[in-house]
Amino acid sequence: MKIIIINGPNLNLLGTREPEIYGKQTFQAYFETLQGQYPQLNLEYYQNNSEGALIDKLHQVGFSYDGIILNGGAYTHTSVAIGDALAAINTPTVEVHISNVYARESFRHHSYFSAHCAGIIVGMGLTGYELALNYFTKQG
Ligand code: DQA
Repeated sequence: MKIIIINGPNLNLLGTREPEIYGKQTFQAYFETLQGQYPQLNLEYYQNNSEGALIDKLHQVGFSYDGIILNGGAYTHTSVAIGDALAAINTPTVEVHISNVYARESFRHHSYFSAHCAGIIVGMGLTGYELALNYFTKQG
C-alpha cells in the first residue's frame, strides 16, 4: 500500500514554529516513528511551501497511490487551485490539521479542500496523521 503525507507551507518549521500550537516535535522525527510503526506500508513524505509545487505533487501521485494525507497549511483556506487539483485526482485524500482550526480565527474555518476529501481530522496534534493512516489501512 502506497501512501504519501503532503505538508504545505510553514510545516517544515514544525518543532520550532509556535510550539504552543503545533508542538515541539519536528515532522522528520515524527515521520520516522510512523515508519517504524507501519513497516508494511510504503510511506512517503513530501513538504513544499509553494502552491504550484503542491499541485504538481498531487497530479504526480493522485492517479497511482492508495492514499494521500494532506495538511495544506494556510493554502487550505485560500487555494481554489489546490481544491481543483483534489477534485481532479482519483486517489482518496484525508485532510489533516494539527491544531483545532475551528477554535482559532474565523478565516481558518473555511476549507477549499474538504468537499473533495474522504474525511477531515482536526485538532488531534501530530496524532491526526496516524489516525488518517489508520483509515487507509482499515480500508485496504
Ligand atoms: C494548520 C492550520 C492552518 O490554519 C495553518 O495555516 C497551518 C497549519 C494545522 O495543521 O493546524 O499552517 O493546517
